[in-house]
Amino acid sequence: MSTAEKAAQVNLIPIFIMGKHYQVPAELTIMKAMEYAGYQYIRGAGCRGGICGACATVFRREGDYKIYTGLACQTVVEPNMYLTQLPFYPALRIGYDYEAIEPVAESVHEMYPELFRCVACNACSKVCPMDVEVLDYISAIKRGDLQAAMELSFDCIQCGLCASRCMGELPQYHIAQLVRRLYGGKLSPRAEHLAKMVDDIASGKYDSAIKELMGMDTDTLKKLYTEREQEPNMADDAWRAKSDVGL
Ligand code: SF4
Ligand code: SF4
Ligand code: FES
Repeated sequence: MSTAEKAAQVNLIPIFIMGKHYQVPAELTIMKAMEYAGYQYIRGAGCRGGICGACATVFRREGDYKIYTGLACQTVVEPNMYLTQLPFYPALRIGYDYEAIEPVAESVHEMYPELFRCVACNACSKVCPMDVEVLDYISAIKRGDLQAAMELSFDCIQCGLCASRCMGELPQYHIAQLVRRLYGGKLSPRAEHLAKMVDDIASGKYDSAIKELMGMDTDTLKKLYTEREQEPNMADDAWRAKSDVGL
C-alpha cells in the first residue's frame, strides 16, 4: 500500500522528529508516533502511563516561536509539530548519608546552596507536565517549611523539565526528593497501626497462616484472592471487614 493510500485510511499527519519529516496517525501519542516512525525505545520510556517521568519531550508548533513541553506517553501529536525527547536531564544530585542528615531546612540549604540562586521567574512551574507549583516548593524550602515543600512537590515524577528551564541552574526535583525523604522518614508521625502490624509479623503471629498459603496450589490461591473481601472504593469511616482473619 502506498503512503497516500495509508494516509487516506488512517488519517496520517506530518510531524518532525529531531528535524526529520514523518507521517504518523493523528491520534497517537508522541511516544507511539515515534515508534510508528521506526524509533525504538531502549531508554526514555518506562511506565507509558504518565508516572515514571522518563519521557520528557520538548516541541514547537508550526509558526509558533514558543517551546512547549510534555510527556511523550501522554501528549498527542499535532500536525507539523517539531519535537525531540529529553530522555535524561543531567542535573546534579548530591550524594548523602541519609541516616546522618538532620531533618531541618538548614541541612537542605547546606547541601543545595543553589536554592538561593532562584530568581522566582516561575519558568519551572510553567513547564511542569504534572502542574506542580515548582517555584512554590522551592520557596517553601528556602523559608524552612519542609512540610509545605513535601506536600507541594508530592506529584513530581522527576522528569527534569523544570531544571532544563531554570535560570538559577537548580536541580529542583532532586532537592524536593531529598525533602520528601527527610519528611517521610524522619519528621512525619509514625503510623501506629503499621508499627503494630510490623511487630505482629516479627513476633510470628502470621507464620502459620503464611505457611498454610505457601502450601496451596495456584488455583486455590487465585480463588482465595479473587473472592477475598475488599474495602469498597467509597467506604466511609464506619466500614469494617466482616472477617478479622489475617488482621
Ligand atoms: S517538578 Fe520538575 S521534575 Fe517534577 S514533574 Fe514537574 S517538571 Fe518534572
Ligand atoms: S526556574 Fe529556577 S530560578 Fe526560575 S523560579 Fe524556578 S527554581 Fe527559581
Ligand atoms: S513513560 Fe513514564 S511518564 Fe512517560
